[in-house]
Amino acid sequence: DTQNLDLLRSSLKLCPNFPKKGITFIDVFGAFANPKAHRALIDLILSRLKKLGTTIDAVVGLEARGFIFGPQIALELQVPFVPVRKLGKLPGKVAKIDYDLEYGKDTMEIQTQVLKPGTKILLVDDLLATGGTLGAAQKLCVDLGCEVVETLVIIELLGLNGRAKLTDVNHFTTLLQFSEADLEE
Ligand code: PRP
Ligand code: MG
Repeated sequence: DTQNLDLLRSSLKLCPNFPKKGITFIDVFGAFANPKAHRALIDLILSRLKKLGTTIDAVVGLEARGFIFGPQIALELQVPFVPVRKLGKLPGKVAKIDYDLEYGKDTMEIQTQVLKPGTKILLVDDLLATGGTLGAAQKLCVDLGCEVVETLVIIELLGLNGRAKLTDVNHFTTLLQFSEADLEE
C-alpha cells in the first residue's frame, strides 16, 4: 500500500493560483492520466474496503469527480452505482439538498426510487475541502432512509476542517491528506 500511495501522491498535479490567486488546486485527473497510478488508486480503495469488511449494497458517487472512479469501485464490488447530480440533470422523482461550496453555493439531487430504505451506501467523491458537499450528500442519503456505512475520498485538505461537516467521522476513509504547508508554493 505504501508504494501505491507514493505513486498516487506523485501523480497528482498541484496547480498554484487556480482557480484564483492564493489557492492551490490539486488536479485529481493526474491520477487518471497514468495507468499505473490509476491502478494504484483502485487497488488502494479496494484494499481499504476489504480491511474495513463493511457490507456495501450500493456506491453513491458525486458529480462530477466522484463519477470518474465510483463506477469502477461499484463494478469491482458487484453492486449498483448511483449518481448524485447537480440540479436539473436527473429525470423522474428526485430529492434535493442545497449546500455551500468552497467557492459558492449549489444544489444536488438524487433519484428517490433507486435506493430502498436500509440500503448500505459507500459514498465517494474525489476531495474533502470544507466538507459542505459530502456533508450534504450524507444527509441526502440518510433522508432517503439509507445508511451511509462508509464515506471515502482520495484527497483530504486538512486546513479547512471538512470533517466537522460530516455526520460520521468514524466511518470516513481518506487516502491522501494535504496540509496547508503541503500546498504552499
Ligand atoms: C469539488 C470536489 C468536491 C468538492 C469539495 O467539486 O470535487 O466535490 O468540491 O469541496 P467541499 O468539501 O468544500 O464541499 P466541485 O463542486 O468544484 O465540482 P466538480 O466535482 O463538478 O468538478
Ligand atoms: Mg466535486
